[in-house]
Amino acid sequence: MPDNRARILKALRRHREGYISGSTLASELGISRPAVWKQIETLRALGYDVEAKPRLGYKLRSAPDRLLPEELKPRTKVMGKKIVHFNSVPSTNLEAKRLAEEGAEEGTVVVAERQESGRGRLGRGWLSPPGGIYFSLVLRPRLSPAELSLVTLAAAVAVADAVHGVTGLEVKIKWPNDVLLDGKKLVGILTEISAEADSIGFVVLGVGVNANLDEKEFPREVRPSVASLSSALGRPVDRPTLLTTILESFEELYAKLSSGRFEEVLKRWSMLSATLGAEVRITTVTGTYQGKAIGVSEDGALVVRLSDGAHRVFHSGEVQHLRVGRRR
Ligand code: BTN
Repeated sequence: MPDNRARILKALRRHREGYISGSTLASELGISRPAVWKQIETLRALGYDVEAKPRLGYKLRSAPDRLLPEELKPRTKVMGKKIVHFNSVPSTNLEAKRLAEEGAEEGTVVVAERQESGRGRLGRGWLSPPGGIYFSLVLRPRLSPAELSLVTLAAAVAVADAVHGVTGLEVKIKWPNDVLLDGKKLVGILTEISAEADSIGFVVLGVGVNANLDEKEFPREVRPSVASLSSALGRPVDRPTLLTTILESFEELYAKLSSGRFEEVLKRWSMLSATLGAEVRITTVTGTYQGKAIGVSEDGALVVRLSDGAHRVFHSGEVQHLRVGRRR
């Protein structure tokens, strides 16, 4: 029973300095000693190194570097209340969509150690070797389709805040939702939606973080434009802590959106934006435009003053920063 397993793990963590006996665990949990033994065996199969010493009991030596639900205990009400973990999956977004169609609750998280065919924006792929963080959230926002971009902007803010909080690194956001480290892409976010004409059925918000990845994992031609946390820090980042912090931070921002406090989210996004004030080239389905990014509208669109002085509002497109300018 996963619940007993989680409780045994908690008790082992509490006694990390010493040993906890099988009979203490059994009486604390109200289960038999063979049942304790069975759960310890399952923990070992998941990669936990649990030592057993005659007369002393059990001791947790190390936990696996995996994003197992046992390792993720966000202090949230909704985001991550249910977590589905895969070692390998084609795409967490596809899996989350499948679950959402079957009625999965808002806040359900699908997380994988690696993806076989990770999906990126604009029909691209997303390289997903072990060491990164790949997860998708099922959301059922009570927002209009026009307000949906705000969810994506909020996700970028949540990830940027969490990365800064956990690692101390300064990150920026490129419109709409790429998180950059030193101008290079660290995080990608892909929002996929199932909607009627005027209402949203569900949203799948997929996030990929280049956490503990060596730049050699990327094809040579993209290396100059990608960043990873372990390369920047010179040591691996604790992935469970980072994912937990992202979920906590996103829950707070999502609550703001749900209660109509859009401005607070936009203000945070603007403060972290690398795009506002920059000279940009933006490629859309209708063409390529150039100008200065001067603002973000209340539904998350980018406002650009084009070279001829006209203002144009972009709801989608691929931005390239040409020159980082002053905000005002
Ligand atoms: C981008 O192109 O910038 C968006 C990349 C989004 C990647 C994430 S990884 C987890 C989730 N599952 C996917 O297949 N894609 C998203």
